Amino acid sequence: SADASTETEKTLAIIKPDGVSGNYTNSIKETILDHGFKITEELFIQLDEDHVKSFYAEHSSRSFFPSLVEYMASGPVLIMVLEKGNAIADWRALIGPTDPLKAKVTHPYSVRAICGLDLQKNCVHGSDSPQSAAQEITFFVERTSSGHY
Ligand code: TYD
Ligand code: MG
Repeated sequence: SADASTETEKTLAIIKPDGVSGNYTNSIKETILDHGFKITEELFIQLDEDHVKSFYAEHSSRSFFPSLVEYMASGPVLIMVLEKGNAIADWRALIGPTDPLKAKVTHPYSVRAICGLDLQKNCVHGSDSPQSAAQEITFFVERTSSGHY
């Protein structure tokens, strides 16, 4: 039987507006492929505020929420489904801590350390658990296969 630690998983990655406008898309995709992930879905899209509110609903009571929503809808993003063994934890490890300014100190080779600007404009998203990965993939990919919301 398959080793549980190498079982294929899917996770949701997003290159956020600062990552796209900062021209980090190609280098981040290269990093993803170099680390053994397959990119099985890609969606280049500008989100509207209602979709961001729904995606980040768990943070709706936080003081940073309105600003986060405005930022995430401010320009196009690249949404990807990544697939490999242990994809969820491995992508989180690769992107590093939420705050790029802290990541620069503690995880200098992480994606957020290299590409992120500040706590809000932190370049990339990664699902944080199997439950959120499944939910986020359904939210962005499986229900948008028609190409529009
Ligand atoms: P969170 O889920 O805590 O971080 P992560 O993306 O590492 O899972 O927060 C979601 C996003 O909200 C985060 O990527 C950037 C933004 N954010 C802020 O703008 N200010 C904050 O104080 C926090 C905690 C997050
Ligand atoms: Mg999170």
